[in-house]
Amino acid sequence: METFLAHLQREASEAIARAFAGSLTPEEAKADLAPCAQDEFGHYQCNSALRLSKQLKQNPRAIAQKIIDALDPLFLKTFSKIEIAGPGFINFTLSPLSLSHQLQGMLKDSFLGVPRPRKQQKIIVEFSSPNIAKELHVGHLRSTIIGDCLARLFEFLGQEVVRLNHIGDWGTQFGMLITLMKEEAPAVLHGKEKTDLEKLLTWYRASKKRFDEDSSFKKRAQLEVVKLQSGDPEAMHAWKIICDASRKGFQEIYDLLDVRIVERGESFYNPFLKEVVDELGHKGLITVSDGAKCVFLEGFKNREGDPLPLMVQKSDGGYNYDTTDMAAIRYRIFVDRADRIIVVTDNGQSLHFQLVFAAAEKAGWLDPKKTQVDHVGFGLVLGTDGKKFKTRSGETEKLIDLLTEAVDQARQIMIERLPTVSKEEIERLATVIGIGAVKYADLSSHRTKDYTFSYERMLRFEGNTAVFLLYAYVRINGIKRKTQADMNYLLAHNHISLHHPTEISLGLHVRRFGEILESVARDLLPNRLADYLYELAEKFNAFFRDCRVEGTAEEGSRLLLCELTARVLKQGLEILGLKTVERM
Ligand code: ARG
Repeated sequence: METFLAHLQREASEAIARAFAGSLTPEEAKADLAPCAQDEFGHYQCNSALRLSKQLKQNPRAIAQKIIDALDPLFLKTFSKIEIAGPGFINFTLSPLSLSHQLQGMLKDSFLGVPRPRKQQKIIVEFSSPNIAKELHVGHLRSTIIGDCLARLFEFLGQEVVRLNHIGDWGTQFGMLITLMKEEAPAVLHGKEKTDLEKLLTWYRASKKRFDEDSSFKKRAQLEVVKLQSGDPEAMHAWKIICDASRKGFQEIYDLLDVRIVERGESFYNPFLKEVVDELGHKGLITVSDGAKCVFLEGFKNREGDPLPLMVQKSDGGYNYDTTDMAAIRYRIFVDRADRIIVVTDNGQSLHFQLVFAAAEKAGWLDPKKTQVDHVGFGLVLGTDGKKFKTRSGETEKLIDLLTEAVDQARQIMIERLPTVSKEEIERLATVIGIGAVKYADLSSHRTKDYTFSYERMLRFEGNTAVFLLYAYVRINGIKRKTQADMNYLLAHNHISLHHPTEISLGLHVRRFGEILESVARDLLPNRLADYLYELAEKFNAFFRDCRVEGTAEEGSRLLLCELTARVLKQGLEILGLKTVERM
């Protein structure tokens, strides 16, 4: 099923082409359309007359009239009103009958009226990407939540999605860590004793301190790096043990968040680093600066205004973060053959990725016409004090504590609200609501801005919160239960027929689901979906206030509208990574 916006766009473009045959190219005849900001003026607006007036040297209102006159008469029946407004906008108002038919179509469509791709795209979404032997922090949490949401969106849109975890599992930190563990935890390195992320973290901190203070330790650590990089079996074994223990810690969080992700860490690209640098050299892109191999690109400057290069090989011959990312983009283009590559990290890495993309283009690997690349940046997480977020203990932001705290607070609220409900169910509700609240608070704020983390705010029943949306879903199901509606019977024997203004307003909003998803997929802004769902819940509440369902002549139609609203709400929440509950 096509979105209505796309349908209207097609019809309006054809009308423009007909009305001004011979004077416009097909590209120029393409109609500019947008949803209206307010339903009172119309549902969709065409702005083409203003653009065309200069070119055609005609009055825009006259052009608008010609476009309307050239619309397919059969298509005109879709509208109850078409008006020329202001300097020459055309406002279209859907007729309740046509809208009802379209909603009926959505009910019958397992994709809820959201279009299927003509050609499936392969989309890489790289997200989360924590570092071995280091704690996941709130930045990784944002990356995980936003990345998972984008992956879910493209999966629902019918694309082939590859979810990649680009974990930091390589680099000099392993030299220090292994050297320290050889002294302090040899049994762990020999696989005789188990360890966990927590312990690795303490050793990591200690190793860093020793590295800075003790020159003989430093030397040993550097030798250990060389050993690891040359594939020495003993060093490799130690590395693997460290990675495995970290992985378990990460997995615990992914499980709690219900996030699937495939690991393809930095070490994966090791075998390609040398050829990447060689190839850049052959293509004449390398300049040696202070002994390091660099790629200088036009327009990239650091804060001081000096040229900012991508450094692909350090003066000591070692490779680094930049090299790995060049290898990664090359691999994703030529081996994965991705149509779109999305990387989710904090805003702080934005310049780095612009450099990588520009360098890949200059190397002839990236053709923006064939492969779309997006760095999806996000802001900081702030505490209610306006400073960088810290957990109650105050030290490093331990992610698992942060999530458990949200679940604990949700549990407390549920125990108070539902005193007679079983312990198991409270537990399930607490997890769905607590985790959902954390995800929703993140996704509902514009991702490029900093966002303030507040348990109290995210668990409120009013306002744009997960709890408000989950509760709306519970209410809709309550209506279905109360009327003892047999949905299958209704779906087969009844149809949606809209009359009341708030009912029409809800129906129109429901119909826009596909348009919203397409806009999120284009601009990668999940908050638009959150806003849409919030408005959906509000429109539903208004409908429920104004329109009686039970025992009226409209009961069948209204129950179907409830059903469709519930499906859209549930699907939308699912794309945001939220589960729903049956009561709360
Ligand atoms: N491991 C990095 C960090 O914790 C994020 C990796 C981002 N992805 C990339 N391809 N460089 O900051």
